[in-house]
Amino acid sequence: MDFMGTVQKITSRIPIGAFKLIRARCFHSKFPHAIQLNITFRCNQRCVYCEIYKDKRYEMTTPEIQSMIDQFAELGTSRFSLTGGEPLLREDLSEVVSHARKRGMFVSVATNGSLVADRIEDMTGVNSVNMTLDGIEATHDQQRGKGNFKKVINALDLVRKKNIPAYVNMVITKNNHSQLKDVLQIVRSLDIKLLVQPVFYAEQSHAGSLEKYMDTKYEDRDMLETLNQLIRLKEKGDPSIMLSKRYYVRVRESIINNTPMKCRYGGMLYCTVSPDGRVGPCNLFARDTRWLNGNEVGYKKALMNMPEIGCGGCISSFIDFDDLYALKPDVIWNYYKHYLKLVARR
Ligand SMILES: C[S@@+](CC[C@H](N)C(=O)[O-])C[C@H]1O[C@@H](n2cnc3c(N)ncnc32)[C@H](O)[C@@H]1O
Ligand code: SF4
Repeated sequence: MDFMGTVQKITSRIPIGAFKLIRARCFHSKFPHAIQLNITFRCNQRCVYCEIYKDKRYEMTTPEIQSMIDQFAELGTSRFSLTGGEPLLREDLSEVVSHARKRGMFVSVATNGSLVADRIEDMTGVNSVNMTLDGIEATHDQQRGKGNFKKVINALDLVRKKNIPAYVNMVITKNNHSQLKDVLQIVRSLDIKLLVQPVFYAEQSHAGSLEKYMDTKYEDRDMLETLNQLIRLKEKGDPSIMLSKRYYVRVRESIINNTPMKCRYGGMLYCTVSPDGRVGPCNLFARDTRWLNGNEVGYKKALMNMPEIGCGGCISSFIDFDDLYALKPDVIWNYYKHYLKLVARR
């Protein structure tokens, strides 16, 4: 085959979204490669670090969400994450998932797991599921409500039996910082991976009030000890820890120097949509009402004209996602090993 033929063969296999992503990176232009939809802020749990359920704003209807998906698909979006609140409280979840899949998107769902047993058939269409497990039974239930540990373990077992790629989120607080080993033991026994991040406070995000956040916040020395454990596990090549070593090293520096980390691509290459259709740069601004409403003005306009709202930075796992878009080779390799391989299993 001649040179042009070979180039054509290779390029025909690269999805159009990847071209757009590379172009946007080169020209520093906006391109919503990934979107996260807070499909609802309602929730059936009352976790110690989250008060998102208190925001009682308008929730888009199924046709409005489908139109949102169509508009982002036209722009080239290929990754669609559903979160909340508790996404399984939306009866139309499977309709939304299948609409996004039909538009060629890779769909993931974040859930507390409590409703998975009743809705398992609705989950079969998703590409990946993540559930939160905050420690051993007593600690998980203390942070997330009595009986919820058993429900999430049962849910993880169910998705595994259905062959749906799954991983677990653990949020480190003052109550569970010493339980990394216990949670690792559980996830290893289920043959799934673990995403660990510190509890954080952002006024327009999940933690409702600074007082409530301070009630759950770890002592810095405890968090540093947990981070050191995570870094050591990454150095040993532990297959269960999802996020990159770079992220945990950056969080450690950020805590030691008391300087939050800044992302570069929030609102540029990925964005967040709130239940009423507002488009913001990332989920740490999910409840901010200053963003333009895509359900009213159209999503392209809402994204392109996103107002400049200063961000002081954060320590959330979004930073790892951002480093992926920054094309850090170690983060790309980590993502390939821990996420792409996981979802490719299907
Ligand atoms: C908002 S929840 C939505 C999905 C689902 N309701 C759940 O709990 O898994 C998504 C993730 O954000 C985490 N989260 C909520 N509030 C947080 C906070 N203040 N700091 C860090 N993570 C938080 C949850 O523990 C969960 O892993
Ligand atoms: S963390 Fe998830 S389950 Fe807990 S209150 Fe917030 S949205 Fe609900």
